[in-house]
Amino acid sequence: MTDDRAAFAERMVATLTGGAMTLMISVGYRTGLFEAAVAGPATSAELAERAGVHERYVREWLGAMVTGGFFDHDPRTDRYSLPDAHAPFLTGETAANLAPMTSMLRAFGGALPELERCFTEGGGVPHAAFRPHFDAVGAVPGDSWRRIYEEQLVDGFLAAVPGLVDRLRAGAAVLDLGCGSGHAVRVAARAFPASRFTGLDIDAEQVATARAATEDLPNATFVVADAAALPADPAYDVIVAFDAIHDQQDPDEVLRRVRAALVPGGVFVMVDAKFSSDLDKNVGHPLAPLCYAISLMYCTTVSLAEGGAGLGAMWGIERASDMLRAAGFPDVVVLDSPRAQNCLFVCST
Ligand SMILES: C[S@@+](CC[C@H](N)C(=O)[O-])C[C@H]1O[C@@H](n2cnc3c(N)ncnc32)[C@H](O)[C@@H]1O
Repeated sequence: MTDDRAAFAERMVATLTGGAMTLMISVGYRTGLFEAAVAGPATSAELAERAGVHERYVREWLGAMVTGGFFDHDPRTDRYSLPDAHAPFLTGETAANLAPMTSMLRAFGGALPELERCFTEGGGVPHAAFRPHFDAVGAVPGDSWRRIYEEQLVDGFLAAVPGLVDRLRAGAAVLDLGCGSGHAVRVAARAFPASRFTGLDIDAEQVATARAATEDLPNATFVVADAAALPADPAYDVIVAFDAIHDQQDPDEVLRRVRAALVPGGVFVMVDAKFSSDLDKNVGHPLAPLCYAISLMYCTTVSLAEGGAGLGAMWGIERASDMLRAAGFPDVVVLDSPRAQNCLFVCST
């Protein structure tokens, strides 16, 4: 075999292994095995007992975990351990824990038969079709984003925008457009009691979840509404959209509505993917393949399902900036966010 062929053959095996390990991580996350392992080295029986699951399954799962380099195994004691250096990425409540991401991928995977049909028949997979594959931990954006907001929303995302935190402290009317189940609104409403937050989403079920989880916060309200019909009145001092513009059916109209719904001197902060609109410029970016895949499996198809623009998450900084300017924001400033795959588009009026 040529060097190139041999290298690619190796890469294929590593890729298949990565796919299988993603599923194994999902199993470990959802059965509580990673959390159970934090208590210290354990035999498969001890670990199974800690997690309240069947030993035979745990032993086979540990086989994948050990040979995959996730766990250590001591052959003298037959005990398995999760190394300290690995634990933060698989356990706990911090944003470093990437295990919840596997649930999201698994949920997207559940809709693959419908997605494949769209390749031949056109159209898209509507948001509602993902529902059977979502649950409390697998919902989009899911547990991962809850952790990210709790840790990074105020000190990371909002603090990155000059003057925004002061404005929120003083008291501002804020709209979170495409708020999902309201994690960001909750975190911000707690941090800035003088500001009033409205979360808006078209998905009634997510808004119901948001309302139920936010009853204790008098400065947070939620509405079920289509962002493409956002009225200019009431106007807001600050409008934010976290990962919620590119999968809109009509993003141009939404951006125009956002512009019209800001008070003079208001600001729109859009958090979106930090990639180029030019595929070739994304080659070599370590996060690009994952983000293109997520874009295909969810963002692009949900928009196409509504007969929409199908921008996809990888629409890129150049195209996003052009669209923001066309919507009436002449000065678009692109800032880094605390996450490598996201940037902030700060649009002043
Ligand atoms: C990827 S999720 C982001 C959710 C949330 N901003 C977060 O980061 O946790 C995109 C959200 O946009 C909402 N959405 C899509 N189209 C919408 C529309 N036309 N009007 C309002 N919300 C919409 C979806 O229901 C979904 O909750």
